[in-house]
Amino acid sequence: MLFETGLLLNVRIQLGIILAVFVGYWIKRLFFRTETTGKWKSPFAEDSRTPLTPLNTDHAKRDETMKRAFTKKLANEKKWDAIVIGSGIGGLSTAALLSKAGMKVLVLEKHYKCGGACHTFRDNGYEFDVGIHYVGNFIRPTLTRTLLEQISDGQIKFAKFDNNVERLILDAMSPSQREYTISSGPNAFENQLIKQFPDEAQGIKTFFRLLKRGYNPRGAMAWFAVKLLPIWFTKVLQFFGLPRLLSDFYALGERSVQEVLESHVKNKDLKFLLSYSTTGFLVPPSRVSLPMMSLLHVHCCEYGSCYPIGGASEMPFRIIPVIERSGGRVLMKANVSQILTEGGKVVGVRVGNKENSMVDIHAPIVISDAGMHNTLLDLLPEKIAEKSPAWPLMKTIKPSHGNLSIFVGLRGTPEELGLTAQNIWIYNGSDLQKMLTEAEKTSIQDFLGKAFPSIFLSSSAAKDPSWKNRYPDRSTLSILTCAAYSDFSQWSGQSTKKRGDDYMSLKNAIGQNVIEQVTTLFPKLKDAIDYINVGSPVTIEHYLSTKEGGTYNMEHDYTRFGPEQSALLRPESGIEGLYFTGQDVTSCGFASCLYSAFLCASVILKKRYLLTWELFNLHRKLYGLPKGRNDLFY
Ligand SMILES: Cc1cc2nc3c(=O)[nH]c(=O)nc-3n(C[C@H](O)[C@H](O)[C@H](O)COP(=O)(O)OP(=O)(O)OC[C@H]3O[C@@H](n4cnc5c(N)ncnc54)[C@H](O)[C@@H]3O)c2cc1C
Ligand SMILES: *[C@@H]1O[C@H](CO)[C@@H](O)[C@H](O)[C@H]1NC(C)=O
Ligand SMILES: *[C@@H]1O[C@H](CO)[C@@H](O)[C@H](O)[C@H]1NC(C)=O
Ligand SMILES: *[C@@H]1O[C@H](CO)[C@@H](O)[C@H](O)[C@H]1NC(C)=O
Repeated sequence: MLFETGLLLNVRIQLGIILAVFVGYWIKRLFFRTETTGKWKSPFAEDSRTPLTPLNTDHAKRDETMKRAFTKKLANEKKWDAIVIGSGIGGLSTAALLSKAGMKVLVLEKHYKCGGACHTFRDNGYEFDVGIHYVGNFIRPTLTRTLLEQISDGQIKFAKFDNNVERLILDAMSPSQREYTISSGPNAFENQLIKQFPDEAQGIKTFFRLLKRGYNPRGAMAWFAVKLLPIWFTKVLQFFGLPRLLSDFYALGERSVQEVLESHVKNKDLKFLLSYSTTGFLVPPSRVSLPMMSLLHVHCCEYGSCYPIGGASEMPFRIIPVIERSGGRVLMKANVSQILTEGGKVVGVRVGNKENSMVDIHAPIVISDAGMHNTLLDLLPEKIAEKSPAWPLMKTIKPSHGNLSIFVGLRGTPEELGLTAQNIWIYNGSDLQKMLTEAEKTSIQDFLGKAFPSIFLSSSAAKDPSWKNRYPDRSTLSILTCAAYSDFSQWSGQSTKKRGDDYMSLKNAIGQNVIEQVTTLFPKLKDAIDYINVGSPVTIEHYLSTKEGGTYNMEHDYTRFGPEQSALLRPESGIEGLYFTGQDVTSCGFASCLYSAFLCASVILKKRYLLTWELFNLHRKLYGLPKGRNDLFY
């Protein structure tokens, strides 16, 4: 028993009082609408989907939109209602929501191409995606899909993965190598595991019961809700332990995936299968909160994964017109070097850092998609930044770990090469906790000549049905493996082509090493390889500007998702006029960033709770009431 009876009674009374305050506060906000100024219209006032236009494959035409460069003239052509720093999916979606409400928004992107982790690049006739290998199910009409549809004119479509979404190869480089596939569909994975490990049926059922509690929409809503409530109010809730009492997201959030596994299942491979998806969070299972893994599981496995038709660059390409239609602009090669303040209030941004080429642009609202570390530590004077409630977290939450990306171009079609619409995870080992903990401590040099602990493979050529029209005779493979920033930090700040021979030879040695491992397992690929390019954490640092080249900005350790920290990682920065969007507000991942943008726009439009209602209402009009609770989000 958690509580003794007397104490429980006490808690109930307290709970009642708090609930009454909460409900009163909420009713006041909702019905007296003190927050709705009426200045901006609802972004969801009407259905803005338009009939699907064919994929635009004219790269020169696409580049006019995707590479429109910053000029002083364009930046000062009008009075902006808001400026967004960074064109990742978080920044663009926020800009699109505000534009749909009637605001004129300027998006400033440092890179020469739009999209952040959603950008794609072409080299030697091959096209590669950088940071979107799979997303959840965007084929079913969920609230999340409606949100995306409404900010992209309904022009982004998805293709479903193979039903066996993922293949896992354990002890890949040893004679005891074995393979498992993970199948998607409601309860499919659970049933499959019960069949494969009948002796552990009870433990598997308990594990999935917890997993389902972890992704109960009510719990996830509480995760978001504390980001909208006033901070003082979240502190009151925390004082009485209410977040953990009312939401499974927080209640289970203190249990790590590893801890739950240890108490419910015994078989080593079973433990692996139940936790492999934590590899995606870049921290070992002992530091991943169970609800976070639940969300990833329900989003990508329970309902199957998808891939955007035409590649990830369709996201920015289809969202930019929505921003421009309201008089906004998305400009590239615009490195914001400073957020301008006057009397503690944000008044605009400075682009560039050289005396003769600096441009100051003014707007009453600035939204940063550049990550909280970058924004608070580098773009603001410390005296101002320390006023942000998120400031103390800049020291306690580290930047996330890095990865090495290997981009491979292949001659031949996916069919000829045996590439499928699946993710493949290759592990040299079968104890995930041990492997990932060791990998964190090992320098990349020590992996050379050995097998890398984990390798992720995915082929856009196989996942994207539009690929064969666009690139009929070739295929690509994106490979990810682990790499610490410290192994590459000496080359930080040097431009891409000028990092010297040592950098090139280290990168290429690792690339060769990983390719050898991959082609040993998939020999058909060996002779088809035509192009190899390796990106290290300093590449990510250069192109995505994440702190220390971390893959996802802030680390996804479970402490980040507790009620206290969740409340502080919010769209409001605590500095007047400055807001946050993107992965630090919720978590990494395409869908999470859509919600970061949604939360951010709710606050800016002064429609904290109403915007949710408006989205839901439009969704209901278009698709009817969601059938099951999971049709809401996942
Ligand atoms: C290798 C990799 C693989 C991934 N795989 C998946 C996946 O399969 N599925 C999935 O859902 N998610 C995946 N993710 C995560 C997902 O892509 C990200 O969480 C998400 O796209 C982040 O969006 P964002 O808007 O927060 O930031 P970003 O996309 O990082 O955008 C931030 C932008 O801000 C710009 N910027 C920064 N500082 C400045 C400045 N001072 N001035 C101007 N601009 C600036 C940057 O150049 C960048 O373009 C992956 C990420 C990576 C890196
Ligand atoms: C962007 O601006 C920052 C801060 O002034 C500077 O350190 C960095 O070198 C600039 N980056 C580019 C690519 O110009
Ligand atoms: C796989 O990892 C183990 C350590 O976990 C190591 O001893 C072994 O050499 C690795 N295999 C290869 C082929 O490198
Ligand atoms: C990415 O890097 C992290 C940290 O180094 C690691 O835990 C993870 O396994 C890597 N991803 C893959 C697919 O190797």
